[in-house]
Amino acid sequence: MVEETAIGPQHLIYPFFLKDGKNIKEEITSLPHNFRWSLDRLLAEIDECMNLGIQTFDIFPAVNENLKDKIASYSYAEDNFYLEAIRQIKARFPESVIMSDVAMDPYSSDGHDGYVENGKIDNDKTLPILAKMSLAQAQAGVDIIGPSDMMDGRVGLIRETLDNNGFTDVSIMSYTAKYASAFYGPFRDALNSAPKSGDKKTYQMNPGNKREALLEAQLDFDEGADMLMVKPALCYLDVIHMLRENFPIPITAYNVSGECAMVYAAAKNGYVDYNLAVYEILLSIRRAGADGILTYFAKDFAKMIRK
Ligand code: PBG
Repeated sequence: MVEETAIGPQHLIYPFFLKDGKNIKEEITSLPHNFRWSLDRLLAEIDECMNLGIQTFDIFPAVNENLKDKIASYSYAEDNFYLEAIRQIKARFPESVIMSDVAMDPYSSDGHDGYVENGKIDNDKTLPILAKMSLAQAQAGVDIIGPSDMMDGRVGLIRETLDNNGFTDVSIMSYTAKYASAFYGPFRDALNSAPKSGDKKTYQMNPGNKREALLEAQLDFDEGADMLMVKPALCYLDVIHMLRENFPIPITAYNVSGECAMVYAAAKNGYVDYNLAVYEILLSIRRAGADGILTYFAKDFAKMIRK
């Protein structure tokens, strides 16, 4: 009765890695409990998760190197397996909520979220590419567009593009305060999407900055974001709290791959109790002010709660 914060599977968004092919379920070495799935196996997994009360899924594509180029053209190609998978998932589970990732890195031969020219990220040349990618995803049936690229001005252009094409009810969860973090390593292994040169510090935020997150949030809010995300979650609980106090739209947090990998490793060695640690972590992110949490713990947590 007196516990102030509640956490259940309805608050969670479960990230999946999708690979082209059939009958694939490859465990990710640096992110145990998580897999690269082919669509056939993923459909069965989604069914299981929905029976456990998880309704929202974020899907990331692992793209073959030979399909990558400088302009990420595969991201909106007709025969893109990721877009086809989204179509099939929405056809089979119309009541599921499907979130996408918008950024160039899984499709880019440079491994950067933006367009690279002479070793530099060109913010404004990136925007139309992100808009095309978003439109293709909306056409495939995505419910929530998730721009994770941190380019300036992309929320506005994506909103305008969606609206002009009749997708007024597709929402945008903006990666608003995404920090240049050490905790994305396992994710980049999963997708083989690490930058080929340089780092992401010219577009992702400096971990020492908090007030800057207010500016990023104001821009995304003004440009039409429906939800604001903070990422990673655990080193940035203060930022989650600050956005929650200052913006009247849902706030979400991404409990990223490296954060979950630390817990898997410690639990495997018997240093912490897995279930208790997961519960406390997710509860703390909610207490800081997150409405929704993206987390690789989603299924394990839902199973634990059921027990
Ligand atoms: C890339 C993207 C990243 C994550 C989500 N989208 C990695 C990055 O920015 O390099 C990280 C998620 C995680 O670590 O779990 N646009």
